[in-house]
Amino acid sequence: MLIYLWAESHGGVIGYQGQLPWHLPADMHFFKTTTTGHTIIAGARTFASFGRPLPHRKNIVVSHRPAADFPADVTVLGSLTAVRTYARAHEAEQLFVVGGAQLFAGLLPDVDQLYRTTIQADFPGDTWMPEIDYSQFTRIGHQIGQTDERNPYPFTFEQFQRKN
Ligand SMILES: NC(=O)c1ccc[n+]([C@@H]2O[C@H](COP(=O)([O-])OP(=O)(O)OC[C@H]3O[C@@H](n4cnc5c(N)ncnc54)[C@H](OP(=O)(O)O)[C@@H]3O)[C@@H](O)[C@H]2O)c1
Repeated sequence: MLIYLWAESHGGVIGYQGQLPWHLPADMHFFKTTTTGHTIIAGARTFASFGRPLPHRKNIVVSHRPAADFPADVTVLGSLTAVRTYARAHEAEQLFVVGGAQLFAGLLPDVDQLYRTTIQADFPGDTWMPEIDYSQFTRIGHQIGQTDERNPYPFTFEQFQRKN
């Protein structure tokens, strides 16, 4: 099953200068607990933003570059077709597509579930979430995030399932 997991602020901003525009530890914690033990699929720019393969989960990177350019414990897929083939072969697993915008745009017809964090604040951005037709999805969960000193913006976690 292919699952998108991302955080967006006002206007669908998801990235700025190769990084996240915000620092929101509660969302990083959500990312970690949700993806640990599963598989993450990242575009090469998003993978570079991690700085290393993320521990305790299978790391897949999508890139035109050869596998030798990446750490040995990373699986490199060279096209979105290769991602789709991988997803079909691992249908029972939770495969979290964690961005960036290029992957989110390219795999939209294939995604089964959406895990969206919405941050109710304005941030400068240069990367945006592609438009999603939410009428094709049913909301199956939502939690309001706890705003505090370390997480100073209102934020919400939501999960959606593609309608049959
Ligand atoms: N807010 C969030 O939840 C969130 C999540 C993820 C990322 N982000 C942010 O988004 C930004 C990065 O996103 P991005 O859209 O610029 O980049 P990206 O999707 O992470 O990576 C783009 C790269 O992926 C590879 N790629 C993409 N499509 C491919 C295809 N069809 N076949 C083979 N390789 C393909 C290419 O790598 P090669 O050039 O190596 O071939 C391409 O340069 C950063 O600012 C990041 O922090 C935010």
